[in-house]
Amino acid sequence: MLRESEARDRAAFIDLLASPEVGTYLGGPRPRDELEREMPEVPDRRPGHFVVDLDGAMIGQIILRRATGHGPPAAAGEPELGYLFLPEAWGFGYAAEACAAALGWFADALPGEPVVLFTQTANARSMRLAAKLGFTEVERFEAYGAEQWFGMRSPATRSD
Ligand SMILES: CC(C)(COP(=O)(O)OP(=O)(O)OC[C@H]1O[C@@H](n2cnc3c(N)ncnc32)[C@H](O)[C@@H]1OP(=O)(O)O)[C@@H](O)C(=O)NCCC(=O)NCCS
Repeated sequence: MLRESEARDRAAFIDLLASPEVGTYLGGPRPRDELEREMPEVPDRRPGHFVVDLDGAMIGQIILRRATGHGPPAAAGEPELGYLFLPEAWGFGYAAEACAAALGWFADALPGEPVVLFTQTANARSMRLAAKLGFTEVERFEAYGAEQWFGMRSPATRSD
């Protein structure tokens, strides 16, 4: 289920951002003590930010927001998909199912808009997921000391 965040998700948000596995291709994990101090009581309750809930517990987060300046100029201001799942939820197809649902919601809310995505090319799981969701390569570029992949999903592509 996709839903907005609640206070009971706080520990899962901290686990997510403190996880070395999750942070491998995202600039590294954040220190747990810093997260414990700074995480709001209800984390990340913003438009386009979804908690992925499996049987009543948060297993990941999906973010749809306008791309800021971290990609090539062609992507600036375009809707961007991001996804982070707890490692114990990897390998079951949950990310693919949840992202397809979020993209379906988005296509209904803002018909005709493409969605962009950035990921490190070394992030094999993320690259496989992007392809499964119908994203195709626009270009590769260097940033943060690594090769980055800029993909786009055209409005006609529906994986749901
Ligand atoms: C990127 C990320 C979400 C991918 O998670 P994932 O679980 O591998 O992705 P999917 O939901 O597509 O699951 C695919 C796997 O589930 C398996 N699977 C098992 N049962 C399945 C089912 N019923 N349906 C579909 N897939 C299934 C697939 O075989 C596949 O495994 P494989 O990759 O070993 O072949 C996850 O690795 C992650 O959170 N990484 C950290 C954050 C990050 O790097 N984000 C990218 C930047 S935006």
